Amino acid sequence: MAVIEEIAKVSFERVGSHSHIKGLGLDENGKAKFIADGMVGQIKAREAAGIAVKLIKRGKLAGKGILLVGPTGSGKTAIAIGIAKELGEDVPFVQISGSEIYSAEIKKTEFLKQALRRAIGVRISEERKVYEGKVEKIEIRRTRHPFNPYVEIPESVILTLRTKDDEKTIRAGREIAYQLLDLGIEEGDVIQIDAESGRISKIGTTKEEEGIFLKKKVEMPSGPVLKIKEFTYTVTLHDLDVVNARAGGIFTLIFGGGLEITDEVRERVDETVKGWVEEGKAVLVPGVLFIDECHMLDIEAFSFLARAMESELAPILILATNRGKTKIRGTDIEAPHGIPIDMLDRLLIINTEPYKKDEIREIVKIRAREEGIDISDEAIEYLAELGEKTSLRYAVQLLAPSSIIAQGQKVKKEHIMKAQGYFADIKRSISYVEKLEGMLR
Ligand SMILES: Nc1ncnc2c1ncn2[C@@H]1O[C@H](COP(=O)(O)OP(=O)(O)O)[C@@H](O)[C@H]1O
Ligand SMILES: [Mg+2]
Repeated sequence: MAVIEEIAKVSFERVGSHSHIKGLGLDENGKAKFIADGMVGQIKAREAAGIAVKLIKRGKLAGKGILLVGPTGSGKTAIAIGIAKELGEDVPFVQISGSEIYSAEIKKTEFLKQALRRAIGVRISEERKVYEGKVEKIEIRRTRHPFNPYVEIPESVILTLRTKDDEKTIRAGREIAYQLLDLGIEEGDVIQIDAESGRISKIGTTKEEEGIFLKKKVEMPSGPVLKIKEFTYTVTLHDLDVVNARAGGIFTLIFGGGLEITDEVRERVDETVKGWVEEGKAVLVPGVLFIDECHMLDIEAFSFLARAMESELAPILILATNRGKTKIRGTDIEAPHGIPIDMLDRLLIINTEPYKKDEIREIVKIRAREEGIDISDEAIEYLAELGEKTSLRYAVQLLAPSSIIAQGQKVKKEHIMKAQGYFADIKRSISYVEKLEGMLR
């Protein structure tokens, strides 16, 4: 049995609440199916997003962006992720929140620069020693976070790869398990793993799948699983900045400490990458920078972003907010969604609507499956009703505690009702405090 040694650095992340989103779920004509690609309902917004994807692919959205406006829990983040997935398997998706730019350690514009450069991929092809095959079986083992026992993280993975002529089972560590989860690799997908670095690339799937854009259907590979082959992988401009900043400063090597990415480093990286592209060694893959709570950005941040959108190496900008008319931060000027007019002029606006019961029911089902929770039909129905009265998010959030209350047994309506007694939704919580204030006065 082959063993892949991990050499890449270890990072810890949680398995996200959007892991079920695989695309926008549209047919050949751009019409949204009620359920597809993990997406449910929200038909108009998904179809609008599909048109935006076509515009992006035709280069008609350069220098412009998308603004998602709708109430909390109406699928703004889900749609932004769906757009990135439709743009391609290896298209970078970077998510930040408007409030994150205000940090004591790093300047606002530096933070935004890094986010923009993390959202631009560089696809490189090289002859490498790779494991290649159809994923026959995938088994991810989980453990507790070493520094935080309350967080569960993947620990290792056992993976069986098949070709027409060969089969190999490999065991690999955390880094590879993360990548597999991150890329949403499932049984039936065809993947390559670089034997040396452990980097994974998804080639396509052998399964029939819905979705029009970039779900590549491929044949099962032939020949041995381990072989020398052209391997294509994607790094980001920010990855290259970090490597070059390290290589540049002997002092950081000796004394460690802060790694400074200067504009000179960035310019050097840009020149190098442009050279690769001209020589046909690399392809640029502009991704998506998603800024949630964009009303938290201030006037300086907006003007920085407006300039960045003009540059030739720019990702697609998607902003999201749930605010109506409000002050632009850092000014006394009221503006729609708190966004300066010159920025608004560049944005295609898509509205997301609050979910109805039929939609919530299906989303709850998908999330229950994703979280491995066995749940009765009656309990799902109850959550669907509850979600319509409160919010989709609250209904989805109750799944995990209900499963604890059910002590690992099938979750029933009574377990949900108990969980609902323990945990409040936002409306209830606010009315509780308001009542209390009345009593204190
Ligand atoms: N149309 C949809 N289909 C499937 N899942 C969805 C849909 N809309 C939202 N979700 C899921 O519901 C949860 C809340 O949605 P989210 O995208 O975070 O809302 P928002 O960003 O508007 O606050 C997330 O787990 C999200 O993945
Ligand atoms: Mg969101």
